[in-house]
Amino acid sequence: MNAPIRVAVTGAAGQIGYSLLFRIASGAMFGLNQPVILQLIEAPIEKALKALEGVAMELDDCAFPLLKGVVQTSDASVGFKDANWCLLVGAKPRGPGMERADLLKDNGKIFTEQGRIIDAVAATNARVAVVGNPANTNCMIAASQAKRLPAENFTAMVRLDQNRAQTQLAKKAGADLTDVKDIFIYGNHSPTMFPAFAHATIGGKPAPQVINDDAWLQGPFCETVGKRGAAIIAARGLSSAASAANALVDHVRSLVTPGAVHSIAVKSEGRYGFDPNVWAGMPVRTTTPGSYEVITGYAMDDFAKSKIAATNKELVEERSFVAGMIA
Ligand code: NAD
Ligand code: LMR
Repeated sequence: MNAPIRVAVTGAAGQIGYSLLFRIASGAMFGLNQPVILQLIEAPIEKALKALEGVAMELDDCAFPLLKGVVQTSDASVGFKDANWCLLVGAKPRGPGMERADLLKDNGKIFTEQGRIIDAVAATNARVAVVGNPANTNCMIAASQAKRLPAENFTAMVRLDQNRAQTQLAKKAGADLTDVKDIFIYGNHSPTMFPAFAHATIGGKPAPQVINDDAWLQGPFCETVGKRGAAIIAARGLSSAASAANALVDHVRSLVTPGAVHSIAVKSEGRYGFDPNVWAGMPVRTTTPGSYEVITGYAMDDFAKSKIAATNKELVEERSFVAGMIA
């Protein structure tokens, strides 16, 4: 058994938190040999902190063998102290009819402060994964505050989009989900994202060949994946939560598994035509636990280039919108 790692989670009493914490404590995120101490951070609001107490009681009542401690706090400098992983979930979610741009200003302030505090108090080489929307830009804002931690330690989640795309391809092809491989998400976690179907395979064959319907791939497929979050909000009246928590488990699990190939949003460095200094979804291969290299070899056709240009434009616009918050 390894020594326990410290996992800080913001928004711990929220919807995603309620689906997430029990999976972390059960070993789904870091494996069955890795004990964890959960450092749960909530907003300084009486109702949220009371709810957090209830969540902590339920964690106790699960008697998880891997759970070695639970911290409850509204003080980020306590919650992020010595954290090896900082999972930034807490933010205001989008309601019906709202676009992510509406959230930029409110949520940007949260990530400025959290980025600064993480840099000051988290463990050497802490990893940060951002879920709170607009996730790519919030991640960029948090990373901009860091002087000690390198930018590549800050990633944002596009795994929910990857999982959604995988399922849509499997359904269309009438194939088993596990036969769909190498479907990666490029760009923003927003309706402009690009699920790059041309490089995906189904049962070892190129997905476009198996599906044999380019109009569907370029139209309804991209649109269904891009607007899935809004479809869930329209149906549930609340944003996705269990599937988002599951995607974060997948995001981190893949990031701690050397050799795993998966989509995450990272600082672009100009790859695939993204502006340097935006955080864009792209395929990576995990090298050592918590570290990755971007897979750069995929050639893009004209359709893919136009989709990447559109999602890049949105990321650049979001960056200019929050320019005052970037250190
Ligand atoms: P929620 O409202 O149920 O929970 C959010 C929690 O965060 C609340 O308990 C709130 O009190 C807390 N919070 C707010 N400000 C905080 C702060 N400064 N520090 C600590 N906690 C704080 O929302 P949710 O459904 O759990 O969603 C959380 C976020 O995740 C939203 O921004 C949502 O849009 C986003 N989301 C992202 C994805 C993705 O794929 N990237 C998917 C689903 C949801
Ligand atoms: C999702 O994709 O389900 C979330 O990001 C929620 C949203 O606002 O779309």
